[in-house]
Amino acid sequence: MQPDDAMGETTPVRDALELIDRRTSTRKFDEPAGVTDAQRAAVLHAASRAPSAGAMMMYSIIDIREQATLDRLAVLCDDQPMIAHAPWALVFVVDYCKWIDLFEHVGCFEDAFCERHGCTPKRHPGLGDLAIASQDAVIAAQNAVIAAEAVGLGSCYIGDVVEQAEEVRDLLGLPEHTFPLSMLILGVPAKARPQTPHPRENLVMPERYRRADAATLDAQVAEMDAMFRPHAREAGERVVDIYTRKHTSPFMAEMSRSMELWIKNWVGEDW
Ligand SMILES: Cc1cc2nc3c(=O)[nH]c(=O)nc-3n(C[C@H](O)[C@H](O)[C@H](O)COP(=O)(O)O)c2cc1C
Repeated sequence: MQPDDAMGETTPVRDALELIDRRTSTRKFDEPAGVTDAQRAAVLHAASRAPSAGAMMMYSIIDIREQATLDRLAVLCDDQPMIAHAPWALVFVVDYCKWIDLFEHVGCFEDAFCERHGCTPKRHPGLGDLAIASQDAVIAAQNAVIAAEAVGLGSCYIGDVVEQAEEVRDLLGLPEHTFPLSMLILGVPAKARPQTPHPRENLVMPERYRRADAATLDAQVAEMDAMFRPHAREAGERVVDIYTRKHTSPFMAEMSRSMELWIKNWVGEDW
């Protein structure tokens, strides 16, 4: 279904650049407003139209509406109660299991097949497959984000879905050769949302990578302090904040622990 059809003729689909510029994360939802079937259809359609390496669609979208599941994810994703107050969540699972199943289904793993086609016997997905499949999943998620804005919904990524791998795997029934890279919570925003500042210093590098010199680092620090800490007492407060609250945080340690398990799951090792 096209977004126009999904939302009816009276809902204007805004200009893409304006939507991208206006978008900002939504963490508080108008709970009684809910999400209509037409909005869900438009968002899921847009996700499925995202570019995909070889059009292999190496991802699956878990569509979560049950309160019990949202409640559990709120705890598992580093205790973020807003997840339990969202009417809808989508988990974008990087998925090679579906291709292994297809290969098996049409006989690719049989000896006679390998002899006939001169190809290697069964191989598990590796890090190369992970690199492209992850891009598939995240691009689909971002298409969903922009489509959500177009149909009057707000959204927020939940990176912490990578954590607590054992419990998330069991909760969502994830088989080997999968891992949940991205999660979105979605719903009607409870209030108008001011844009979050996005720093631009040291972002675009002409032709080749350019490591920041001291002057560029100073400019970055000043830009960030002005944007995020307009009343910064000391230069560099934003960088210090990121170092203490994110870089050295327990949640990042847990995410790294879980990622090792998800990599094992991807290649098909027991854990
Ligand atoms: C990969 C990723 C993971 C994120 N995880 C969380 C999260 O767990 N909780 C949260 O409140 N926001 C999360 N966010 C939202 C960011 O904090 C937000 O995008 C950022 O502050 C910029 O603000 P904006 O989206 O309003 O422009 C995540 C965003 C991304 C891209």
